[in-house]
Amino acid sequence: MITLSRATLVGDELDSLVEICLSQPDYWRCSGDQDPESMSRATLEPMLREDAEADGCETVVARDGTGRAVGFAQLLLRHPTDGHPWIGLLLVDGRQGRQGYGRTIVTAIEDRFRAEGATAIRLGVLVVNPEAQQFWEALGYRRIDLRPDRAKGRPTRVMEKRL
Ligand SMILES: CC(C)(COP(=O)(O)OP(=O)(O)OC[C@H]1O[C@@H](n2cnc3c(N)ncnc32)[C@H](O)[C@@H]1OP(=O)(O)O)[C@@H](O)C(=O)NCCC(=O)NCCS
Repeated sequence: MITLSRATLVGDELDSLVEICLSQPDYWRCSGDQDPESMSRATLEPMLREDAEADGCETVVARDGTGRAVGFAQLLLRHPTDGHPWIGLLLVDGRQGRQGYGRTIVTAIEDRFRAEGATAIRLGVLVVNPEAQQFWEALGYRRIDLRPDRAKGRPTRVMEKRL
């Protein structure tokens, strides 16, 4: 069982999110958003806070049945151009990979947005991250565009799933 709750970014929860980030050095290496050799709580906390507090955005923490944080997702609730919710980043604890947590978290996000009336979810996958591409395709997301991402102009595949 997985439950999602809005991130508070304080105390033990913040420690857990930092640990989850540190467990995925290959993601930061390929995205270029953090230097895996030098990233630390000091570099990760401001990034997490900025993403969670941006206008129209929300970070959700995924916890297993014991209450342990196993991943988190950054959500854009309504894209300014297409009106759909977007998943900005999904990060599962690298020590718990391929156990179905990613799929379960995405299902919970889809259920939430479906209940709120959304008709589709979109996201961007960096072209340099083919493993993530395979993950999203396994979950039924389809490529609808290839374009530079808004943050840094990196080649990005836009994926969509109709709800
Ligand atoms: C991508 C990510 C979220 C997947 O989480 P996960 O919990 O390991 O994935 P799941 O166990 O739920 O996998 C579900 C299915 O996706 C596919 N999949 C997952 N990881 C894959 C990989 N590395 N290569 C190929 N297919 C993969 C498989 O079909 C898998 O089913 P299976 O294990 O029964 O074969 C996780 O690896 C991660 O956090 N990566 C770093 C950050 C990232 O790239 N995020 C996505 C960009 S937005």
